[in-house]
Amino acid sequence: MKLIGKSALVTGAASGIGAAIAAAFAREGARVAGLDVKPSACEVDVRADVTEESAVASAVEEAVRRLGRIDILSTNAGIAIRKPLDELTAGEWDRVVAVNLRGVFLVSKYSLPHMHRGSSIVHMASGVALVGTRNRAVYTATKGALVSLTRNMALDYAGRGIRVNSICPGFTRTPLTENLFSDPVRTAAFTALHPLGRMGEPEDVARAAVFLASDDAAWITGVALPVDGGYSAGHAADI
Ligand SMILES: NC(=O)c1ccc[n+]([C@@H]2O[C@H](COP(=O)([O-])OP(=O)(O)OC[C@H]3O[C@@H](n4cnc5c(N)ncnc54)[C@H](O)[C@@H]3O)[C@@H](O)[C@H]2O)c1
Repeated sequence: MKLIGKSALVTGAASGIGAAIAAAFAREGARVAGLDVKPSACEVDVRADVTEESAVASAVEEAVRRLGRIDILSTNAGIAIRKPLDELTAGEWDRVVAVNLRGVFLVSKYSLPHMHRGSSIVHMASGVALVGTRNRAVYTATKGALVSLTRNMALDYAGRGIRVNSICPGFTRTPLTENLFSDPVRTAAFTALHPLGRMGEPEDVARAAVFLASDDAAWITGVALPVDGGYSAGHAADI
């Protein structure tokens, strides 16, 4: 078990990748608080909309009160809109930026005072931060920003011994992507984008999160790790 004695705060813990990460952290011996708008199966369940500052501050305080401290922060709460830029409303743009970026800022801001030498932050970016993908302008922009934020936070908190990394998953089977998996034509097209011949399962991403959160990654900070079956490596077709 790689996370014995550690306490973790996991956002987006009620569903998909965040739920798999919360379960994997617990299996590895960590005590886990899940922060989501929906109920999670975590030992400690705190609720907040990550875009609302006072709600985030209270939820983090409650998690710390129950867990004692935060050794690991895993930010997964996120939303996506599939539209070209000119069809997005300003409200849609603002909401995706608020959840995917302001939410990560707020949760990090209120968690950092409770973190210490040896702590680890793992942000959930995306493969689309590394490779352009059509009709996802605002989602891609927020995930690219998370990769930049990861590097900046890594530098800012290295002196305190806090590591900051991100994961860039390929297309992964979760409620966020269920419409894609229910269409066999789109499923085949998406599968072909992943050279290893399949899309991801939440557990594929969770295993990487355990590694980055654990002391096995003690000398790794500031990286954006693709976990994507080769999606970001290039075209899979033999041309
Ligand atoms: N599924 C994929 O293919 C994929 C690929 C790359 C990156 N990601 C990223 O992984 C993360 C998790 O995605 P998923 O596929 O598991 O999605 P999901 O929809 O299954 O889970 C997202 C979770 O975030 C929570 N959430 C959403 N808005 C929130 C808010 N304002 N405040 C608090 N909680 C909120 C939801 O309640 C849900 O539990 C997201 O950041 C997503 O962008 C997903």
